[in-house]
Amino acid sequence: MDSEILIIIALFIFIALWIFLAIYIMRGFFVDTPFYPSRLKQIDEAWAALELPSDGKNFVDLGSGDGRTVLWASQRGMKATGVELNPYLNLLARLRNVFNPKKDLVTFKNENFLKTDLKDYDIVYLYIYRSFMNKLKDKLFTELKPGSTIVSNVFGFDGIEPDETYKRFKIYRIK
Ligand SMILES: C[S@@+](CC[C@H](N)C(=O)[O-])C[C@H]1O[C@@H](n2cnc3c(N)ncnc32)[C@H](O)[C@@H]1O
Repeated sequence: MDSEILIIIALFIFIALWIFLAIYIMRGFFVDTPFYPSRLKQIDEAWAALELPSDGKNFVDLGSGDGRTVLWASQRGMKATGVELNPYLNLLARLRNVFNPKKDLVTFKNENFLKTDLKDYDIVYLYIYRSFMNKLKDKLFTELKPGSTIVSNVFGFDGIEPDETYKRFKIYRIK
């Protein structure tokens, strides 16, 4: 084969790989809810006030950002999972977990939470805009098992009253 053709094919593969990589990275920036971190002090206070369970529970943060809530949950003895679409935030969360004394309890998934299988979780933590809460509503109330708890920072579901509230947090119990 002519060396010019080989160069054109190599160039084509190189450009195609870059386009693929750019799309993969950019998808994390085109989400409905941008990254804005929870305050762990507020979560601590709500957990205590609402007497929410910790030890041994299976916790997931849907849209886990830099992973702070997931590390927090692991340090309270929970098996903790973070689901985050933005690969940079996911990487940051994984790096933070290197220094976590409870790192073996932690899993980070780089995926769209609309596709996450929720059936094994006891506690779902959310800090996402109302429009996204409503997109997740049916999935949460169908897939979660009775006895599971949804803890939402600020936003609620349209048409469903929370079972309890504490300051900015809304609690929904799956019956
Ligand atoms: C307001 S931040 C909350 C971060 C973290 N939960 C906390 O409380 O510190 C919302 C996060 O959800 C992520 N996100 C938005 N849509 C998502 C989706 N469909 N799947 C996974 N993560 C998503 C964003 O990238 C962002 O990091």
